Amino acid sequence: MTIRLIIDCDTGTDDAVAIMAAVCHSELELVAVTTVNGNVPLSNTTENSLRVLDHLGSRVGVYAGAPRPIMRPDFPIPRDVLNGDEPAFQIPYLDLPASKTSVQEQGAVSYLIDYYMDDANLDTVLVATGPLTNVALALAAEPRLASRIPQLVLMGGSRGWGNVTAVAEFNIWVDPEAAESVLGAGIRDVTVVPLNATHSAQITLEDCDLFDAIGTPAAIASSQIIRQRILNYPDAPDAVKRSAPVHDAICIAYLVRPDVLEDVGRYRVHVETTGTHTLGEMVIDTRLWSDSVPNARVALRANAQIFSAFLSDAFRD
Ligand code: BDR
Ligand code: CA
Repeated sequence: MTIRLIIDCDTGTDDAVAIMAAVCHSELELVAVTTVNGNVPLSNTTENSLRVLDHLGSRVGVYAGAPRPIMRPDFPIPRDVLNGDEPAFQIPYLDLPASKTSVQEQGAVSYLIDYYMDDANLDTVLVATGPLTNVALALAAEPRLASRIPQLVLMGGSRGWGNVTAVAEFNIWVDPEAAESVLGAGIRDVTVVPLNATHSAQITLEDCDLFDAIGTPAAIASSQIIRQRILNYPDAPDAVKRSAPVHDAICIAYLVRPDVLEDVGRYRVHVETTGTHTLGEMVIDTRLWSDSVPNARVALRANAQIFSAFLSDAFRD
């Protein structure tokens, strides 16, 4: 029995590793990739997704989705202002040959609706590794999806700190209204993988050596991507750079190895959509005495050994 999944993503280096793990792991069947504006503009996330799939010889379809957040013409701070002092921080295109295959004609939002309205597909996990714009638009256009998507696993948010602002994580901050509406939609099984988890399970240079030794196209491309992430990781500039988080791929690991997520609890989760200094903050109600109704499972830690072993298994398959 394989686990079927759709990845909604903004490829993106860590999204690329997530796609490769999903394509290669023998216990997973990647059904489709839907793309969204995020790390780079929509045309780039789409081309990058096609490049990754072409590189593996995969015929999985890519469906392009939303080019901007639901309510904002650009990010909360426009992309060129956000990246102003570090325009090269996000590379526009992955270092893989240009795609030979084409994006599907159908858009991502209508694809997601059609897919989940088909009774044959009610086993397929939706994994969201970018801003939640496509998922929110699909739920708004077809609210029955909330009871038809069996499981949503998303990378986003954080508890207590951020990577775009002091309190906001990128995916959630890009489209906070989308994130808040998805979390409140009533999907019965939602797992949130926030920065607290992804930063606690980093991939190291030694892991990359192991991937190189495996030697498959996915292993080598992932190793190159992760080595670049380690080199360019902005944290601790004076430290010897030996590891980096590969956020999105942990969501894929979780499907095969649920024990990769640790310190897991069920909580009420909201997203701040109006705060002057807190826009895009994920608010996780971890109070022991809270009577709020949980809407998500949240992991506050992850296991680096299990994550790295999962990636090796995937790249060997
Ligand atoms: C998330 O933001 C993106 O830059 C990454 O691809 C990941 O999904 C981490 O904050
Ligand atoms: Ca991403």
